[in-house]
Amino acid sequence: MLWIFIFYFIYNTEVGMSTDNSIYESVRLPLSLIPLHYNLEITPHIYGSKEDFSFDGFVRIKVLCKEKRDIIWLHSKSLKHKEIRITDGEDRIIPVISWDLEAKREFLIIMMGESLSPGETYYIEIKYHGLILNDLKGFFYSSYKDGAVEKYIFSTQMQPTDARKVLPCFDEPALKATFNVTIVRRTDLTSLSNMPILRSEERDHELVADVFETTPIMSTYLLAFALGDIDYLQNFTETNIQIRTWSRSNAVEQTKFALELGCKTMTFFEDYFQIKYILPKEDMIAVPEHIFNAMENWGLITYSENGMLYQEGVTSEVSKNFAAILIAHEISHQWFGNLVTPEWWDDLWLNEGFATYMMFLGVDAVIPEWKMMDMFIIHNRGLQSALAFDDSLTTHPVYVPVNDPAEINEIFDLISYAKGAAVLRMMNFFLGETTFRNGITNYLTSQSYKAATHNELWYAMANQSLVEGKAEIDVKKIMDTWILQKNYPVVTVTLVNGNTIKVEQARFLINEEHRKNAEPIYWEIPFAYTTSDNPNFEKTDVDIHWLHADRYPIYIKDDSLTNSTWLVGNPQQIGYYRVNYEEKMWISIIDQLKRNHKVIHVVNRAQIINDAWNLASSGLVSMDVALGTLEYLTKETDLVPWVAGLQELHKLGLALQLTPAFGHLQIFMQNLLANVFKKVMTGSTHHDKIMKSMISNAACSSGLQSCLHLARQMFDRWLDDSSLLRVEIDNDFKLSVYCAGISENGVRTWDIVYGRYKKSDSASERRSLLHGLSCTREPWIISRFLQLTKNSSEIQQTESIDALIYIAQNPVGRLMVWDFLAENWKHFFDTFGAGLNHMPNLVKGVTEAFNTYGELIKLQHFGERHADLGTATRAYNNAAATIQLNIRWLKKYYVIVEGWLMKQNGAL
Ligand SMILES: *[C@@H]1O[C@H](CO)[C@@H](O)[C@H](O)[C@H]1NC(C)=O
Ligand SMILES: *[C@@H]1O[C@H](CO)[C@@H](O)[C@H](O)[C@H]1NC(C)=O
Ligand SMILES: *[C@@H]1O[C@H](CO)[C@@H](O)[C@H](O)[C@H]1NC(C)=O
Ligand SMILES: *[C@@H]1O[C@H](CO)[C@@H](O)[C@H](O)[C@H]1NC(C)=O
Ligand SMILES: *[C@@H]1O[C@H](CO)[C@@H](O)[C@H](O)[C@H]1NC(C)=O
Ligand SMILES: [Zn+2]
Repeated sequence: MLWIFIFYFIYNTEVGMSTDNSIYESVRLPLSLIPLHYNLEITPHIYGSKEDFSFDGFVRIKVLCKEKRDIIWLHSKSLKHKEIRITDGEDRIIPVISWDLEAKREFLIIMMGESLSPGETYYIEIKYHGLILNDLKGFFYSSYKDGAVEKYIFSTQMQPTDARKVLPCFDEPALKATFNVTIVRRTDLTSLSNMPILRSEERDHELVADVFETTPIMSTYLLAFALGDIDYLQNFTETNIQIRTWSRSNAVEQTKFALELGCKTMTFFEDYFQIKYILPKEDMIAVPEHIFNAMENWGLITYSENGMLYQEGVTSEVSKNFAAILIAHEISHQWFGNLVTPEWWDDLWLNEGFATYMMFLGVDAVIPEWKMMDMFIIHNRGLQSALAFDDSLTTHPVYVPVNDPAEINEIFDLISYAKGAAVLRMMNFFLGETTFRNGITNYLTSQSYKAATHNELWYAMANQSLVEGKAEIDVKKIMDTWILQKNYPVVTVTLVNGNTIKVEQARFLINEEHRKNAEPIYWEIPFAYTTSDNPNFEKTDVDIHWLHADRYPIYIKDDSLTNSTWLVGNPQQIGYYRVNYEEKMWISIIDQLKRNHKVIHVVNRAQIINDAWNLASSGLVSMDVALGTLEYLTKETDLVPWVAGLQELHKLGLALQLTPAFGHLQIFMQNLLANVFKKVMTGSTHHDKIMKSMISNAACSSGLQSCLHLARQMFDRWLDDSSLLRVEIDNDFKLSVYCAGISENGVRTWDIVYGRYKKSDSASERRSLLHGLSCTREPWIISRFLQLTKNSSEIQQTESIDALIYIAQNPVGRLMVWDFLAENWKHFFDTFGAGLNHMPNLVKGVTEAFNTYGELIKLQHFGERHADLGTATRAYNNAAATIQLNIRWLKKYYVIVEGWLMKQNGAL
């Protein structure tokens, strides 16, 4: 709340009635007016050609005056204001002298002939006009094919700062208000908004106005509406909430899975939070294109088709998993974010970290056999991804001051989502289940309809702990070390004598030089461990040994150490840190894995691989230890450690791609994967099927004959089947099939597959095909493919990013993509620059493999020519740092790795 007072004292304009705009310089609104209610009417003009799509808007905002002022500041962007009127509610008109649009701060500044009086309410009425583009922001259109006809769905995306692109408004999350929305449409379309339709009124020209019920008090970024030729399925939850799943009319059958998951997770969260969902309905709609994967608008969640539609027999198991967690994520936001909202975007993580943690918990609860809590470790929105993102100097703390829209957009990243989730999961552990859940309920109940900061959450947790009669715990002190500081610790465990260990912490950084020279940082760490003598990976809050945020080690005396051959720190990787041991201990752990890996928890098997490889990169353990953690994998059958292992092997593949050792790696991979490949091709569980796609992908690309043979056979049958209906390819083997087929054939095959891509109306199928197309070995075909990614009539905008990243993984495409991106930077930046993590993903994906000086120089050269990289800045800096690391890594470890590979292959 501090900043409110600051503004008040500096900008109190009692002294004079200045019309000088420069007097107010902050990008934040001055809060001289507080919005209470919006009446919004939108009339889209969408019946001609798409180049002319636009809308007329009328908004009437009821505001409460807090300070005497003759200037009004509110947000507006890309709108044309036609008429502005201010009244005092009794039809007395306050004269408007002029208004002005300030593009930089996205302010509409209204100058009046007299001041508004504190304590009074006023109405700001604005008639305006806006464009409807395919820009996936504000009110936008996205297109799909219905047979040969191009059709459109119109929907909105306000978060974080585009409500102002749809209506002039007070576009900050804490400025909550109620909304009456009216959408004027043609009778052949259906419209939706946050609330149910109250009534539909006939208007001129065969138009109908849908008048929606008043929303609860909510933030502008949660406002939503949609219209199109759409249809739905519906069901009711056990607690009788109506859930409808919408899509273009010809895909509505594909929303069944979303409907089922939506109902189940809604009920789960009502129970988990112990607070009923407060709106009368929840609509979920799949739109052809979406700038995020989904958006949690209260009562009207929007999804990309890829994220919500599920087609039995077509969608892969990986996509099904993705749809499930996405739905759980958005439903949990209905409480975390919608009911209680972060006061400002600096606490974005409170929304996203929570929803990310809750999406794993929610799906785990409704589909226990998927074992989502284990998957949290290796999921690309989970713990190990966060650790990888957070291991350099260029990362940022979870809680981060941000002001303007570019800064706000930039923090929709793995730190807010995955690290946020990981530190909440750790808090859940050290508080215990009851305290955590009741603490959340207290927080949500006391802050309902309000805006809060993370401190309110910490206090609610601490209070709950006291209420339950536990020892006093300073939750804020602990959690501040995790959210206010960037990076994370490595905890080193050393055996001091037979029954005592020394445990100490240090700041971990992947870059060895940085790690040795950086300022020390310390954390409050809830450390736990288990031993071979008494292995127990189900540790609870009572087994915690606190390492405090100081530089002092702790000593733990434990008799079970006497007879133990190994110990493993951080059971189930519940803490957000890495663990290191003396080399002897590492070797004992590796021995255990080789003897009987099942003694060690499946999550810790993934942890051991992931920690060892990262510690080796940073020079904290030898490369032999890192390599040793992979040797037991021939016997591993579980998904979670395999993902961790394949990730290191994938990175190894990128590192060695252009070196002589690559051949040895290929042979090693073939030997490693032969058995597990055979096994997963016949598996039937969810984990088996996910493994099938990952293992087969690695097996075929390493040249395993049994994999390639099967893939080629299927590809040929699929290619010959021009009706596309009869030949079914195993969904979870599809990536390998398309890739093998494309890589071994020429342009004629490529063109046929591309034709199928263009015809496909399944988002997940299109992605599989794009992936396949990227596997060609012909540089000129890649070059032609690259050109197509610039044309949105050829390759859908959001899919073009995936295509570029796929191509960059192909050794032939590796440099071509970067050159292409650099040459066409303006195009891609104009298209994606303002959109959340598109540019960061692109830059990271395209440069991931780079590990030569030539590649580094290319990147640096590019940086010198582009002063402002906007939302890609952080990603660019990270990429430059990563390439230098990659170069050093290869220099340091090439010989060791090559020797090890040869030994494994029996060539030494
Ligand atoms: C908003 O809509 C409600 C009906 O849902 C109506 O009672 C109310 O008067 C409307 N508010 C305004 C300011 O028009
Ligand atoms: C609707 O929901 C109920 C549980 O609330 C469930 O038993 C039923 O199978 C669902 N029906 C459909 C068609 O999904
Ligand atoms: C927690 O307790 C403190 C001090 O007793 C009180 O000020 C605060 O309002 C409480 N917060 C919650 C969320 O219960
Ligand atoms: C260690 O093992 C020996 C032999 O099995 C046993 O006698 C002894 O009690 C064990 N010590 C501890 C501390 O468990
Ligand atoms: C983009 O693709 C469309 C459809 O294939 C084509 O008509 C158009 O000429 C292409 N535009 C450019 C700039 O190549
Ligand atoms: Zn979210």
